[in-house]
Amino acid sequence: MKKMTLSLIAISFFFLSGLAQNKVTIIPTPVKMEVTKATFLVTPKTHIYVTEATRHEGEMLNEYLHQLYGFRLPVRAESPSGSAIVLSLKDGEANPEAYHLSVDENTVNIYASDTRGVFMGIQTFLQLIPPMRVGNPSVFQLFVQGVNIYDYPQFGYRGMHLDVCRHFFDVNFVKKYIDYIAMQKFNTFHWHLTEDQGWRIEIKKYPKLTEIGAWRNGTIIGRYPGTGNDGIYYGGYYTQEQIRDVVRYAAERHITIIPEIEMPGHASAAIAAYPELSCFPDESTKAPERTAWYGPTTGKQVQQAWGVFPDVFCPKENTFKFLEDVLDEVLELFPSKYIHIGGDECPKDNWKRCEHCQKLIKEKGLKDENGLQSYFIHTIEKYLNSKGRNIIGWDEILEGGLAPNATVMSWRGEAGGIEAASHNHTVIMTPSQYAYFDHTQTQKEDSVTIGGFTSLNKVYNYKPIPAQLEASKGKFILGAQANVWTEYIHYPSKVEYHIFPRMSALSEVLWTPEDRKSWDRFKSSLPDIYRKYTLWGANYFKNSEEVWKAEGK
Ligand code: ACM
Ligand code: ZN
Repeated sequence: MKKMTLSLIAISFFFLSGLAQNKVTIIPTPVKMEVTKATFLVTPKTHIYVTEATRHEGEMLNEYLHQLYGFRLPVRAESPSGSAIVLSLKDGEANPEAYHLSVDENTVNIYASDTRGVFMGIQTFLQLIPPMRVGNPSVFQLFVQGVNIYDYPQFGYRGMHLDVCRHFFDVNFVKKYIDYIAMQKFNTFHWHLTEDQGWRIEIKKYPKLTEIGAWRNGTIIGRYPGTGNDGIYYGGYYTQEQIRDVVRYAAERHITIIPEIEMPGHASAAIAAYPELSCFPDESTKAPERTAWYGPTTGKQVQQAWGVFPDVFCPKENTFKFLEDVLDEVLELFPSKYIHIGGDECPKDNWKRCEHCQKLIKEKGLKDENGLQSYFIHTIEKYLNSKGRNIIGWDEILEGGLAPNATVMSWRGEAGGIEAASHNHTVIMTPSQYAYFDHTQTQKEDSVTIGGFTSLNKVYNYKPIPAQLEASKGKFILGAQANVWTEYIHYPSKVEYHIFPRMSALSEVLWTPEDRKSWDRFKSSLPDIYRKYTLWGANYFKNSEEVWKAEGK
C-alpha cells in the first residue's frame, strides 16, 4: 500500500513537472502536433475498443502496456463508453503508415486507413504515457497529456541492420531489437546471417553449414590484429523454427525482415562446411598475417579474425545449385519482397588464378573479374526474380554492370547510391560516415570499437537524398538504414550502447519533415529520451559533450 501511494505521488509529480515544462517528447517528432489543455487518465477501468480489423492492434497495444508498464486493459469489440482507447480504420489516407491520434478527457482516438498506421499511432500513444512501471496492476492512474496529432513518414524504407555473425545474438535479443525498431517507427530489419566468421541460419539440405560453419575455434583478442586468440569455441545459429517465430514476431509489429545471404565474398564459413564451393577446395584456409590462430591450421576453416578474405564462392555449376537450394529454403522462411545477396568486398585473387573462372570469363565474353562478379549477381538475380523476389546488394554490385532489377545499398559513401538512382535503380542509403553505428560516437571512447567517428549530431543532420542527385531522381531513394557490424560488439548491452541515442536521431531523419526537425529541440529532449530507454530496459550511450550540455552539466 505504502509502495502504491509513493508511486502515485511520483507519477503525479512527474506529470506536474511535465506540465510545468509543457513539453511532450515523441520520437520521431510528429508531422503535426497540437498540445491541448486536456488530460486523459489511464486506469484499470480504461478499455481498449477495437473492430474486427483492429483487434490485433489492440492486442499489440496490450502487449506493450504489459511489457513496458506492467498492466493490461480489457479489449472490447463494442461501442466505446467511459474511459476509452479507440482503435479504428477510416478511409482517406493514401499512406498506409499515416495516422491520426487525439487525446481528450475521456477518449484516446487512433485511426488510420491501414492497420500499419494504427500501429504507428499506438507507438505515439505509448510515448505519451509517463515512463514508469505501475506498482500494482489493479490500482493505478497514469496521466496522458491531451494532444491532436496527424502524422506520416517522409521515407517508406526505414531500416536497422544487425550483424549476428561476427558475434551471435539469441532470439530473445533479436526480438528486443525488433521492438526497438518498432517503437521508433522504423519498419525494416536487415538480418545479416552469413559471414566468414559464422553461418547462422539452418539450411536443412546442407546441415554442415551449421554443424561446421556456425562455429569457430577461437577469436582474436582486442583490436585487429589483436593481442592473441582467446581459444574459445564460439558460435550459434537459428533453427528454421526459431526463424519462423522471429518472422512472425516481426510481422505482428509490421516489421519486414530482409535476410542477407552473402555472396560471392564473405563466404569462408560456407566454404569451411563445403570446400567444393571454393575455386581451390584443397588449399587450406589462410589466417590474416599478424593475427593469432587457434586449433587446426589445415583444411578449410571458419575465420577467427576480422577482414576481407580471398577464398570466395567459385562461380561454377555446383555453387549456383547450392546457392539456389539455400535460397529456396530462405524464401520459404522470409516473405519479404527483397532478399539481400551481399555482393560487397569480394577479392578477385582466386578467380584470377582459377582455370574455371578464367574459362567462364572467355566463354561469356566478360571483360574481366568484375564482369564475372556482375555475371554472378545477374545469375542469382534472375533466379530470385523467377521466384517473384527482388535483390538488394551492397554498392559493389555496380561494378561490372548492375543487374537489371537490383536495389543498391550505398555504404561506401553516397556515390554508389547517386549512380544507381541516376540510372533509375532504387536505392537504400547507408553511407558509412553517417549510418555505421559500429563507429564510435565520441572521440573519448574507452572501449574497443572498429573506429570511425559518427556523432549524434552528424546522424541527426543526415539527409538521405544527396544534394548532388538530380531532383527528378530523388524518388529512387527509398530511405536509409543504420548498420551495426559486431566485430567489437560482443553482447546485447553493447549493441544498445552503440545504437542509442543515434537510432532516435535517425528516426527523425527518416520520419520527421525537414521543417519540423530541430537539433536544439532534439538535444534538449535527450533526458526524456533516456527515460524512455530506461523504461525499455535498454542500455545507452550518454557520455558525449552534446549530451552533458543537454542535461545541464
Ligand atoms: C560493408 O560494410 N562491407 C557493407
Ligand atoms: Zn573459380
